[in-house]
Amino acid sequence: MSTVKEQYAALQHTAASFGQEHIFRFWDSLSSQQRSNFLQQIQNIDFSALQGLFDQYIGGGRAAVDGKLEPVKPIPIARDAAGRKERARMRRAGEEMLRQGKVGALLVAGGQGSRLGFDGPKGKFPITPVKNKTLFQLHAEKLLALNTRYDTRIPWYIMTSQSNDAETRAYFEQHAYFGLPAEDVFFFQQGMMPALDASGKLILDEPGHIFTNPDGHGGIFAALARTGAVDDMQQRGLEQLFYFQVDNVLVSLCDPVFIGYHLDRKAQMSAKVCPKRDAFEKVGVVGRINGKLGVIEYSDLSDELKQARAEDGSLLYNAGSIAIHVLDVAFVASLAGRKLELPWHVAHKKIPYIDAEGKRIEPDAPNGYKFEKFIFDALAWTENSAILEVERSEEFSPVKNADGEDSPATARRDMSQMYARWFRACGYEVPERENLQIEVSPAFALDADEFAAKISGEFDFSRPVYL
Ligand code: UD1
Repeated sequence: MSTVKEQYAALQHTAASFGQEHIFRFWDSLSSQQRSNFLQQIQNIDFSALQGLFDQYIGGGRAAVDGKLEPVKPIPIARDAAGRKERARMRRAGEEMLRQGKVGALLVAGGQGSRLGFDGPKGKFPITPVKNKTLFQLHAEKLLALNTRYDTRIPWYIMTSQSNDAETRAYFEQHAYFGLPAEDVFFFQQGMMPALDASGKLILDEPGHIFTNPDGHGGIFAALARTGAVDDMQQRGLEQLFYFQVDNVLVSLCDPVFIGYHLDRKAQMSAKVCPKRDAFEKVGVVGRINGKLGVIEYSDLSDELKQARAEDGSLLYNAGSIAIHVLDVAFVASLAGRKLELPWHVAHKKIPYIDAEGKRIEPDAPNGYKFEKFIFDALAWTENSAILEVERSEEFSPVKNADGEDSPATARRDMSQMYARWFRACGYEVPERENLQIEVSPAFALDADEFAAKISGEFDFSRPVYL
């Protein structure tokens, strides 16, 4: 074991050879504990790779999306008898997988939820319209109901990040995993990535700490392999993973129709899409980039292309990604094992830093570059993929902003409106108003058909209704 002094000398040498010697600027003022933590952080930094990233993505001025873009045509929503028959066939195939215990759920919840302005893991945000259940509870109750419906156990893999891992685990423990078997809930942490300033320097956010951010949900493949989650999936005999984001209150978890299409198309990774609300909705679009399937992120698509029209007048790039995928476990294992490198995406952001005098500065303009990987870039490695169009009002209402579009208020409204439609389909007279408060627990019904089979009695919709 080398001494702290030796480690320091070696790392200082490495840092200096990459022009990063400034990171040791405050070394003399650090306590011995701070010194050893700092050295440990630096040891994990790949200076050469960072240098390469800087040259490739920032110094070189590489465009966000390089090359030729083309739209894709999704499998349309079934509106006629033949389409409905096909969906029923897909549903049966998906349900069979669920019954056989071959499906796992994969949730990404490592983001920082900065736009929502909520302090803590976003999954702890209270959201349902009547009972105010949190996002985590809502998803957990859906899984529990699926376990009962298909007489199975769906393991749940939850990706956290450094800043919310402990709080997320503690939250589930405090709530006894909302009734799920604790051994079926598998938390795993994604990696962290250092940011760089405009001249390629690492950024100190404390005298003995380098600023890092979660490495994006594309960090999931490496994280799944590193934490033993892939082994766990294989031991359990899982074949498919249903992937979703923590913020979508309408997600139809483990949707058997989608799983069925994915199997039918012999796909490695599939995606659900909705036509965009408008040209500037902040969703990525599924398309082809230089012939390869992918998602073109909203921040990477020019305003001109966002507004481009197809011959029929609809938006040309209209297959809005709702960030729901099915992934083959074998595909995931191969990506993790072969270390196929997903590309990095760069975001110019405000990053708090310690200036040369040791003062912490909160910049008011972007001063650094964050690097993230995106899971949907793995679509480029698929041979086949099912791109399935779904009804927005049934499947997509994300909580992104504190108010306005895609906020807690719109999520509560969209949930109440969906349940109101379930009631109306059963002959109930539900007033047509924006501010209904209706909530149907997943334990009562997961979808309109199950609801119709169970519902009875009278309800007063001028008050909150909870089932
Ligand atoms: C995301 C998608 C966008 C899609 C939209 C649908 C990205 C980059 N874009 O946009 O294409 O149309 O959702 O709602 O994802 N997360 C992690 N670790 C990270 C970063 C994010 O686990 O390092 C998780 C978050 O917890 C969240 C999800 O990924 O569950 C999405 O992240 P977010 O930053 O909210 O993406 P959006 O910009 O909303």
